[in-house]
Amino acid sequence: MTVPTAAGVRASKGRPEPLVMVTAYDAPSARAVAAAGVDVILVGDSLAMVVLGYDDTLHVTMRDLVRHTSAVARTAPPQLVVADMPWTSFHLGPSKAARNAAKLIRAGAGAVKLEGGLKRLEAVRAVLDTEVPVMGHLGLTPQSLHMMGGFRVQGREPAAAKVLVEEAIALAEAGCFAIVLEGMPARVAEEVTRAVTVPTFGIGAGNSCDGQVLVFHDIVGLGGPRAPRFARQYADLEALARQAVSDWSADVRSRRFPSASETYS
Ligand code: KIV
Repeated sequence: MTVPTAAGVRASKGRPEPLVMVTAYDAPSARAVAAAGVDVILVGDSLAMVVLGYDDTLHVTMRDLVRHTSAVARTAPPQLVVADMPWTSFHLGPSKAARNAAKLIRAGAGAVKLEGGLKRLEAVRAVLDTEVPVMGHLGLTPQSLHMMGGFRVQGREPAAAKVLVEEAIALAEAGCFAIVLEGMPARVAEEVTRAVTVPTFGIGAGNSCDGQVLVFHDIVGLGGPRAPRFARQYADLEALARQAVSDWSADVRSRRFPSASETYS
């Protein structure tokens, strides 16, 4: 899927099913999600929490995102790869935002995602000016954790919901090709989706969006004990990995490993 095809999903009303976006941060997860046939791969800054063990996403840097975007891109997935712009990579002036977006494109992304609404329009425009497609991200934006007073659902009050609609319209009019709607009441996400001409991807935002996005580690059971309620788990890879390593340890301790066929003569 390319940026124009993704952006055109709203226009082609005949599309039978919602778009699917999932995170990947390294070659094994990229191979798995690409082979599963998702539409878009997101190298999310959730990397900080699900892979690097931090409590929030504020700890990943451009260096981290470039390294993990390259790892995903080296598997050459046919899908569009979107790289997240980490905290402070686009807050400190439009030219810095554009330079950092270019680094992610050179690492192999086909587009970047950045969090925020009206306050970030200048950064969005600067990145778009360098011909880099931008995906917006509104609602519970984890990089604003401290301003929001925690990971809290946004837009519950009518005034806050109205701002989300206005911000989505502004992002779409500025040229964002899609917008992630995270952590907001389903009726607000529905209203936002109706108000914009570009596709919306929901996460904890109900089922009226044009697509859904989830974190790979949450889907496969590697997300740890803090998985949010909207993260439906389809496998328990942590339990499988624990069992596999425990079986191998038992084989080593009982001298059943290595066997003759696993040994060079
Ligand atoms: O970083 C991430 O994984 C994200 C998704 C939750 C949308 O931004």
